Amino acid sequence: MSLLPILTFPDPILRQKAEKITVFDDTLQIIISDMIETMYDAPGVGLAAPQIGESIRLIVVNTARGEDEDDKSLVMINPEITKKDGKQVDEEGCLSVLDLTANVKRSFSVTVCYQDSSGKAHELSVEDRFAVILQHEIDHLNGILFLDHLSTLKRALYKKKVKKQMASNT
Ligand code: NI
Repeated sequence: MSLLPILTFPDPILRQKAEKITVFDDTLQIIISDMIETMYDAPGVGLAAPQIGESIRLIVVNTARGEDEDDKSLVMINPEITKKDGKQVDEEGCLSVLDLTANVKRSFSVTVCYQDSSGKAHELSVEDRFAVILQHEIDHLNGILFLDHLSTLKRALYKKKVKKQMASNT
């Protein structure tokens, strides 16, 4: 297993629509275990494959509740939201969007169809914070960052800040 570097905004891979996964081979299993290790190390509550430079429809989520519980990971391949209901606003951040957290409006509950690491199909209904995480990670597979849910002004300010930092780093 190895830790993978996490791409950050404005890397163009983060903006691509990721490819559907059809082959569940050893290469995929290695990517999955490396992503889980990378997520725990970051630490993050979730990680999508495009964030480590793989433009494929795969996310991993840490489903442990609270600090007392051991890390528990959920692997979702080709996840699709089939039902959503209600509204909630919660603070989000992203390992690919450095130095920014902001309130984002999301659905309160979602039902997601997905495949596990062996290709078996499942359906899962979740709500509250867990639903936020799944919506955030699935967005990544469609080239969408939580930034895109913010106001034009907030987004413009953030882009300006990143540009400035990039300029001062060169
Ligand atoms: Ni993210």
